[in-house]
Amino acid sequence: MLAGGSGSRLLPLTRSVCKQLLPVYDKPMVYYPLSVLMLAGIRRSLVICDPGQLQLFQRLLGDGSRWGIELSFETQSEPRGVADALLVAEQWLDGDPSALVLGDNLFFGTGLPDRMHRADDRADGATVFTYPVSDPSAFAVMDVDGQGKPTGICEKPETPSSALAVTGLYFYDSQAPERARSLTPSARGELEITSLNQSYLDAGKLHVESLGRGDAWMDMGTHADLLHAAHFVEAMQERQGLRMACLEEIAWRQGWISSEMVQEQARGMEPSSYAEYLHRLIQA
Ligand code: DAU
Repeated sequence: MLAGGSGSRLLPLTRSVCKQLLPVYDKPMVYYPLSVLMLAGIRRSLVICDPGQLQLFQRLLGDGSRWGIELSFETQSEPRGVADALLVAEQWLDGDPSALVLGDNLFFGTGLPDRMHRADDRADGATVFTYPVSDPSAFAVMDVDGQGKPTGICEKPETPSSALAVTGLYFYDSQAPERARSLTPSARGELEITSLNQSYLDAGKLHVESLGRGDAWMDMGTHADLLHAAHFVEAMQERQGLRMACLEEIAWRQGWISSEMVQEQARGMEPSSYAEYLHRLIQA
């Protein structure tokens, strides 16, 4: 999970704490992307953050054992680009395939876990997830043919050729760090994730999973995005009585932690409504 960057678009909110630790309704932003990795069945993750924020991330997330997962931390001294995450993680990956999620992305939808498992099952190549948006020029934009096969990808085009944004969730084979190393920085001086995906496309190894109307995807990079995401989480949770990105619940439903562990953690978070939710979950 890449959770570094300067967060300069959110200043002064991000003067002392980074964007990914800001609240999104009732939990810190990183809970949302971390829940995505957990829903994909991934139990070993590396959190990449700014060196000045490392202690805060560690205090919040710990070693992951309370969710039955293993969390490690690595720092990125300056924002060298999203594809730089593959280089920062290279040693830790040790030749394994990987999934990369951006620390400011929120995903919600029943179809997502199945699509992620499909991506995970592909031994060769890369998989990106597209989502139709009204403002595609703010993102990487994907062109697909009639069969849904990718034909082109472009980072923040002035005149988008489609409405399909490439979201901040990527599954890569073991070649990704090596490919990332051969990329040249873009005009803004960053190793672009789109250049890495382009290299897979050129090799005929880029796969696309399309998220649609029944799914939600939000990038929480601006003040308005933060507010929209908070309203979305609040509306869904109020309506359903179910919490979004509740890491204890996901871990428990995956069978990674016991009911006793959930209860113990709930006791540690009393008297919050989050603790109440965990108690109710186990009682039900
Ligand atoms: O959200 C999806 C979009 O994310 C994709 O459609 C784009 O292809 C991709 O480039 C990226 O675009 P953004 O403009 O949102 O990237 P941004 O620079 O805001 O970085 C995304 C997140 O990654 C953000 O939370 C900060 C973090 N980051 C970014 C860079 C460049 C890092 O931790 N380190 C970095 O070096």
